[in-house]
Amino acid sequence: MAYDKSVLSTLPAKVDTILASGTNRDTILLDICKLLNSTVPVYDWVGFYIADPEVPRELYLGPYVGEATDHTRIPFGKGICGQVAESLQTFVVDDVNAQDNYLSCNMHVKSEIVVPILKDGAFVAQLDIDSHTLAAMDAQDQQVLEAICAKLSPLF
Ligand code: SME
Repeated sequence: MAYDKSVLSTLPAKVDTILASGTNRDTILLDICKLLNSTVPVYDWVGFYIADPEVPRELYLGPYVGEATDHTRIPFGKGICGQVAESLQTFVVDDVNAQDNYLSCNMHVKSEIVVPILKDGAFVAQLDIDSHTLAAMDAQDQQVLEAICAKLSPLF
């Protein structure tokens, strides 16, 4: 789906406004999900997975916008999300069906980006975005989303 990618550059300042609202972490994260989902037409599912402080090497699903998913807990190493928890690198997937280590959220998803959130160099959480469009996210999305995630580490 073609859309005006200049909307991406408006996002970091809007995230600053949300962060300045001073509400609790889950409200802030949900507001960011809503912002991304409502601003970018190809961001069909937007959510956060958080490293469980009680269960080593396991993610739990935090705030999200979009269809409910079965994947409410993901072990490190499993799926795109679990791989990012280990690699600490953003993973851009143009075609999820070409991935062996992938956990399907629903059959409409065609591409995905997962961006890690680090605190003092350690993995604490990640932003996961699914799209119903093939290759929906590119280097420009990656750069903007990494800038947003860098702003979020003080929340953890
Ligand atoms: N696709 C992800 C699982 C999370 S759902 O997309 C919300 C993965 O492969 O890790």
